[in-house]
Amino acid sequence: MRKLHLSFRQPSPSQLFCLQAAIAIVLLSLLYWVSVQHWAGEIDEGLFNKVRQIRLLPPNEIPAHIAMSTSEDPDNRRPLGYFGPHGEHIVGVIATLPSKVDGKPFDYIATLGHHADDMPHHYRGVAVRLPSGAILITARLIDGERRFDNFLLLIAGCSLVIALVVGMASGALLNAAAARRLRDVRRATQRIASGRLDHRLPLSGRGDDIDKITSVVNSMLDEVERLIRDIQGICAGIAHEVRTPMTRMRSGLESARCNTTSVAEYEQVVEAALQQSDIIMTRFSALLRIAQIGEAASLAQKSQLNLQDVLDDVIDFYEAAAEELSLTLEFKPCVPAIINGEADLLFSAFGNLIENALKFTPPGGAITVTLHQGDGKMTVQVTDTGPGIPVAERNLVFQPFYRAQHPTGTTTTGSGIGLSLVAAIARLHNAHVSIREGGPGCCIAVVFESEMPMKQPDASGDRPFSLNRTLRS
Ligand SMILES: Nc1ncnc2c1ncn2[C@@H]1O[C@H](COP(=O)(O)OP(=O)(O)O)[C@@H](O)[C@H]1O
Ligand SMILES: [Mg+2]
Repeated sequence: MRKLHLSFRQPSPSQLFCLQAAIAIVLLSLLYWVSVQHWAGEIDEGLFNKVRQIRLLPPNEIPAHIAMSTSEDPDNRRPLGYFGPHGEHIVGVIATLPSKVDGKPFDYIATLGHHADDMPHHYRGVAVRLPSGAILITARLIDGERRFDNFLLLIAGCSLVIALVVGMASGALLNAAAARRLRDVRRATQRIASGRLDHRLPLSGRGDDIDKITSVVNSMLDEVERLIRDIQGICAGIAHEVRTPMTRMRSGLESARCNTTSVAEYEQVVEAALQQSDIIMTRFSALLRIAQIGEAASLAQKSQLNLQDVLDDVIDFYEAAAEELSLTLEFKPCVPAIINGEADLLFSAFGNLIENALKFTPPGGAITVTLHQGDGKMTVQVTDTGPGIPVAERNLVFQPFYRAQHPTGTTTTGSGIGLSLVAAIARLHNAHVSIREGGPGCCIAVVFESEMPMKQPDASGDRPFSLNRTLRS
């Protein structure tokens, strides 16, 4: 069966203008017609009244009556004419007969001679044959009505001309403005397409629909730019991280080929090569984990969870390790903090923060995890008593493979990917990670926007997720 596709195209400014002009013409014509009908009806009634009045008179009194009426009307506003059965003029200012004597009203122009100005004037009259055979014409001056009609026509004409001029001018201006905006957008798009990723589409500042769409496209470009910069950073990181072990492995194999003489020496070289290849493998598995986050994000079945439960699990998991390193690990919870999230990813993010704290805090130190709410936000904060992160490097540590230079010269194992994992997981949860001035050491905060009203956790105590701890760096 064929489907019927109905589509609604928005009319162009010129089509809208034509519609408005057509409506204006129809309305003005209607006004003109109503006005003419109105005054013509009233005048006709007066004419027929006069005919009825004269008809009632005896035929021999009619000429005297007409003569008297004429003398009472010096301005010829209501002229009369009386003619014999064969059309000969008997009395009255109207001295000529119309072409038809049919009792139907008609308009005509006449100079009746008695007027002060002696100019042609507009009349509406009716000619009837009386029972005696005589012909009677009664008429009314309609100069005023005609003037009013002409005035209406003038207004209609002027309105039409004004509407045409204004409509065409505004249509041209609108078209020019739209064309200018489109041209600017096209140029900006071409610039972006040519590689200027920092460029954005121009906004008019009017906040109209085009501005709204442009802002959406601009925020999309922000995200694309961020992703591309991330990818560039990751590529540079890969090259940097893999080059050293590869170089070591190559030079080891090279020297084995030229200088090795015994099996024991060969074994030593192979062992060293294996170690370097392990390092390379570790780097690649770290990258694989970032890809896993992206995948988890697209497949993630976010569900309502209590951040407090996730943090309890993380603390349980790292408690033993902290004890082994002579560190105290403390969690200060607040009221339940419910968000829509993916528990495994959140476990991995908080786990990475605690692992860093464990790694950088000297023995005897303390690691404190807090969870608090306020201003529609929920904040998880991990504070330690270690060396902290130098201010200049606080943004850089979120880039993949970046490791800060500690003034104390602390050296640790790691691939520099943990905090970028944390930032990626936070982004998936509409949260923001930052390093704060807080404790004596490092203070990292993950701030979640509240998405739903707070509610108590399930009384059964069931956790809405299962933990799978595969995403730690
Ligand atoms: N709690 C912390 N105390 C001090 N420095 C930290 C802390 N957490 C992170 N850093 C700094 O940030 C860098 C990046 O951290 P991360 O991405 O987890 O990489 P990694 O732990 O593999 O070095 C670390 O190398 C370290 O210099
Ligand atoms: Mg780390």
